[in-house]
Amino acid sequence: MRHLLDILDLSTEEIGELINIACDIINDPDKYSEKCRRKKLATLFFEPSTRTRLSFEAAMYELGGSVLGFSESSSSSTAKGESVSDTIKVVSCYADIIAMRHPKEGAPMVASMVSGVPIINAGDGGHNHPTQTLADLLTIYREKGRFNDLTVGLCGDLKFGRTVHSLINALSRYTGIKFVLISPDELKLPDYVTNNVLIKNNIPYEETTDLLAAMPKLDILYMTRVQKERFFNEQDYIRLKDSYILTPDKLTDAKEDLCIMHPLPRVNEISVAVDNDPRACYFKQVLNGKYMRMALILKLLEVE
Ligand code: NCD
Repeated sequence: MRHLLDILDLSTEEIGELINIACDIINDPDKYSEKCRRKKLATLFFEPSTRTRLSFEAAMYELGGSVLGFSESSSSSTAKGESVSDTIKVVSCYADIIAMRHPKEGAPMVASMVSGVPIINAGDGGHNHPTQTLADLLTIYREKGRFNDLTVGLCGDLKFGRTVHSLINALSRYTGIKFVLISPDELKLPDYVTNNVLIKNNIPYEETTDLLAAMPKLDILYMTRVQKERFFNEQDYIRLKDSYILTPDKLTDAKEDLCIMHPLPRVNEISVAVDNDPRACYFKQVLNGKYMRMALILKLLEVE
C-alpha cells in the first residue's frame, strides 16, 4: 500500500506519469467519470482549508466516487480527546483512501503507520504539502513545458511555508534549477531544507531580502503568505506580514514569460491589480490541483 507523505515518496518517473494522466483527464474527462465508482475518500481536516479540501472532494466526485469527512477538529472526536491514531483506525473502516491535514508536523506519518488505507498528507504544520506541489508542478509544466533550466524565486515566509519546502524538494531533482530565496531574515528557509536539500545536492541558490533586484532573472516567482498561525508572537507577525507586496509596477523589469505563482490564500502579497497580468498563474494552479489530485487518487487506489 502506498501513501503520499512527502513529495519525494514519488519518483520523477511517477510524477511524469501523474502529469500525463492529469493532461489526459483535461482532454477527455468523460473517460474518467466512473473510475472510482463505489470508492470513498475521507477528508480529515484538523486545520482550515478551502482549496485543498474542496479540490480533493471535487476530484473524487469527478471520478465517480463519494466523499465523507470533517472540516474542523472541533466537530470530530478529537474534541473529546481521541488520538490521531485512533481516529485513523476508525476512518479506515469506512473509507478507501484518506486525505488529512494536521497542525502537527509528522501527524500524517503517524497516521500511515496505523492506517488500513492510503494516507495523503494534505499539509502537516510548517513541514510539507506534497499535493500542492503536484498542483505547482502541473502548472510549471503547462506554462513552461519543462522542469529543467529554470530560475525559481520563492518569496515571503520561507520558514513556515510548507508549500515552499515541498516544492524545493521536488524541483531539486531536475537539472539546471537555481533558487532565489527572497525573505526577511526572520523568515529564511529552515536549515534542515538548506542543508539536506540545497547544499547536499549542490543546487545553486542565493538568499536575499530584495525582491526587485531579483526580479529580472526569474522564470518563476512563487509568492507566499506569511503564516500567521505558526507565529508564537503576534507582534512579530504584524511586523513581518507585509514584507512583500507584489504590485504591477514591480513587474516592470520582469521577464515577459515570467510565471507568477501563489498557493493561495493570498492576504496582501499580490495586489488584485496583478490578476489581469497574463503572467499571473495562481488561479490556474487551483484548477491544476484538482486534476493532479484526480491522478493521485487513481494511482494510490491502483485504478487502471
Ligand atoms: C497553503 C497551505 O495550506 O499550506 N494553502 C494551500 O493549501 N493552497 C498555503 C497557505 O496556507 O498559505
